[in-house]
Formats: sequence, structure tokens, C-alpha cells
Amino acid sequence: MKFNILTLFPDMFSAVNTSMVGRAVKNGLIDFNVVNIRDFSTDKHKKTDDMPFGGGQGMLLMAQPLWGAMDSVGAQNKRVIYMSPRGKLMDQNLIEDLAQEEEIVILCGHYEGVDQRVLDYWNCEEVSIGDYVLTGGELASMVMIDAVARMIPGVLASREAAVDESVYSGLLEYPQYTQPRSFEGLDVPEVLLNGNHQLIHLWKLEQALRLTRARRPDLFQNFLSRRDELTRPERKVLDKVISEGSEDEQGK
Ligand code: ADE
Repeated sequence: MKFNILTLFPDMFSAVNTSMVGRAVKNGLIDFNVVNIRDFSTDKHKKTDDMPFGGGQGMLLMAQPLWGAMDSVGAQNKRVIYMSPRGKLMDQNLIEDLAQEEEIVILCGHYEGVDQRVLDYWNCEEVSIGDYVLTGGELASMVMIDAVARMIPGVLASREAAVDESVYSGLLEYPQYTQPRSFEGLDVPEVLLNGNHQLIHLWKLEQALRLTRARRPDLFQNFLSRRDELTRPERKVLDKVISEGSEDEQGK
């Protein structure tokens, strides 16, 4: 998959050449084309921003350099994402949808925004990574790229499943432990050590359900509609968690 990134700060993208995404680039699974918007300014001072018509705070990215940058990556025929706090909220569904594309264009804004004509003409999909405002779209785009990259076949090591099709999908992850069994007087839960896979599975499910109910009641509610997919013992666990009072402090 190829990511065309339009930015005023190309140096920031050295971060995506490390770790698992970096390995995917080396293996030819992912390709980055980082384009400096400033290179396309026809202004003699390479200006890229100006004041908004009608007044208002801050500066806007101008249409002219963005037009050139969009043209240079063939954005006409590609899905174009504009990272923006006013966009639709990014979630795993959007990520998995984007991972189906062979090539996308990501526009990273800075200043107070971009000339609306760019967004309209180039059919930009506005995407936000959360209800907070960053100084620019670069970090947001890297969050998106990282999440999309791990959905591309071959990017994760085979034992790390990208799509969790198990009963746990849609739930927050249960607590996990590794060696040693006892550390500073803190013991790993006994059930995980006894080798009874059914008991271990039901314990993990219970923990995941409790955490999800406490921290993400919206996800817990969605999970309830999958009750029919559960085995009898799994349903018993779900009923137990539902019947527990909400006074326990799992959400901490
Ligand atoms: N640019 C600034 N804030 C952002 C956000 N929350 N999501 C995406 N892009 C942004």
C-alpha cells in the first residue's frame, strides 16, 4: 500500500520508518511518498498561508500550493483524507476500510485550516483522531498510518492476529501476566497457571467483560447483541457480569 503524504513538515515522517512500519517498508509492503507542500508554491517567498477572508483567527493553507501538491500525486483518482479535528471520528472500521486501498493521499493541515475549495474540489474525506486539537495533522496522520499498516497482510508477525475474530473482539483486553509467577509479593492469578484451557478462557472473558462494562459501556452494550453467538458457559459468564452491581471499581 502506498501513502502519499502532503505536509509542510516532511521531516516529522522519519518516525514512520522505525519499528514495525519501518520493517514493512523494507519488506516492500508499504511505500511512503512524502511531499513538501511548500515546493509547489509559485510565490517568490514560497508562501503557503494567508489570512482568511471575512476575518477570523489565524492563517489558512492557500489553495495554489495544495493544488500543485495534489496534482503531483494524482489525487484526482485516489481516496484523499484530510486530517482535521472537525472530521469524522476515526475507528477500527475506517482503518480496515482504508487498508483495502492500494494507494491513498493524506493531507496534513497546519495553521487554522485550509481553503475550503481544496477540500471540495479534491473530494477530501475529513478524519479526526479524537476530540482534542493538535497543532497540525502530521501526528494524527501517523496514528492513522500505523493503525492501517498493521491491517495489511504480512505487516504483523503471523502469530499476532490483526483481526480478532474471537469472542473477545469488540471487548477491551483482559489483564495479562508473564514470568515470574511471583514478583515483589504480587502473584499471577492462580487460574492462569493450572492449564485448564476452558477455565482460563472463561476467566479471560469475565475480565474482558468487566473492564469493558466499567470503561466502555457503549462497547459493552454492542456486545450484548452477540449473546446468541456465545456458548452456554460463556453466556453464564456474561449473565454474571450483567448481574454484578456497578459499584465495583473496575473503571479505575
Ligand atoms: N489536526 C488537529 N487536530 C486533529 C485531530 N484531533 N485529528 C486529526 N487531525 C487533527
